[in-house]
Amino acid sequence: MSDGGTARTGAGDREAARKAAEGLAHLSGFGNEHCSEAVPGALPEGRNSPQRAPLGLYAEQLSGSAFTEPRAGNRRSWLYRIRPSAAHPAFTRTSNGALRTAPFNQTVPDPNRLRWDPLPEPGEGTDFLAGLWTLGGNGDVTQRAGMAVHLYHATASMDRVFSDADGELLIVPELGGLLLRTEFGLLHVEPGHVALIPRGVRFRVELLDETARGYVCENYGAPFVLPELGPIGANGLANARDFRAPVAAYEDVEGPVEVVNKFCGNLWSATYDHSPLDVVAWHGTHVPYAYDLRRFNVMGTISYDHPDPSIFTVLTSPSDTPGLAGVDFVVFAPRWLVGEDTFRPPYFHRNVMSEYMGLIEGAYDAKAEGFVPGGGSLHNMMSAHGPDRETFERASAAELKPQKIDDGLAFMFETRWPLSLTPQAARAEHLQEDYDDVWNSFERHFRVQ
Ligand SMILES: [Fe+2]
Repeated sequence: MSDGGTARTGAGDREAARKAAEGLAHLSGFGNEHCSEAVPGALPEGRNSPQRAPLGLYAEQLSGSAFTEPRAGNRRSWLYRIRPSAAHPAFTRTSNGALRTAPFNQTVPDPNRLRWDPLPEPGEGTDFLAGLWTLGGNGDVTQRAGMAVHLYHATASMDRVFSDADGELLIVPELGGLLLRTEFGLLHVEPGHVALIPRGVRFRVELLDETARGYVCENYGAPFVLPELGPIGANGLANARDFRAPVAAYEDVEGPVEVVNKFCGNLWSATYDHSPLDVVAWHGTHVPYAYDLRRFNVMGTISYDHPDPSIFTVLTSPSDTPGLAGVDFVVFAPRWLVGEDTFRPPYFHRNVMSEYMGLIEGAYDAKAEGFVPGGGSLHNMMSAHGPDRETFERASAAELKPQKIDDGLAFMFETRWPLSLTPQAARAEHLQEDYDDVWNSFERHFRVQ
């Protein structure tokens, strides 16, 4: 095993990344059969694998679903690249750092409500991969079931290239912009956006600011899709046209490039003699994408009560049971509250699904304090939670005028199985010891008339 990996920390590199991120073209839509070529004529016409691909490129299929899955869930892309992906030496084990993978069985599953402050600042030269820190998760990566919650805090751009055979990565930046150089091209995300890297797609994360911090949902299960809209109709929630896929862009680099592959929970490294980000043209459905959460079309009550938070679902990873997600990604975006005779913040509840919440900016309307951007809370299966006392008292007495909630952006990874913690999360110095106290001092109001 070797630690491997180098990283770039200079302001010049950030400047170059910023310049590359400016005014990037993109392809619009979710789940499309996209196509793109960085050089005219690189994409074969009328077939996927001609006897000789154009421009001397190698044709290669990347399958994100079984060949025979129904069309609605079938995902594959064809890549036309300078060298075939197969041209690489053997991988050898490298350090996993603070990255952990399901099954998470090193701690006893904890029924308590838990809350963390943000990760401590990492050392200089920590790239995105080295800055990943696993909080916990569920399922079993070898069964392609379940998910992991990671946080990241990076201070340097990656020189190396990463791919995750274990699942897709939903990256939720909270601090600092990112330029994602992927096999399919470049994506630019800022806090308030999310990016998704599909299973097996190689990419490099470059920092646009001095530091980058945020959250990652590693989804071992079925790829995220847009939720069904049912009676909402043909539009709303996250609109498909607002998703951005990259246009083809490639690196023609001869020379040593470290490629790290996450496979069944471990990191494996190989030094290629060329950059694997050498795809000149591609077409398909298994593609990275980005989305600006502020474009979420929020639905809510215009009479009384408020719907369950499933109405805020951006993306869902379906299971074999209709309506039961492996994991949902839910956003609490700016919105108007107008419900009459209604307790407007999130209600008290206990939920068979387990909820990890994070905060991208501002404040969350169920917690007056203690839940800060970069931090997170876990309300595991059937744990009782809801507004804190201050929020309850204020909302119960408030005059119910129309009210705009526009000072925060919170999200939730909601998952079908209880989340188990990694030892590092269970014993973290930034785990708050007094979270239960927010529900400790409710007054008794009950009286029989
Ligand atoms: Fe909840």
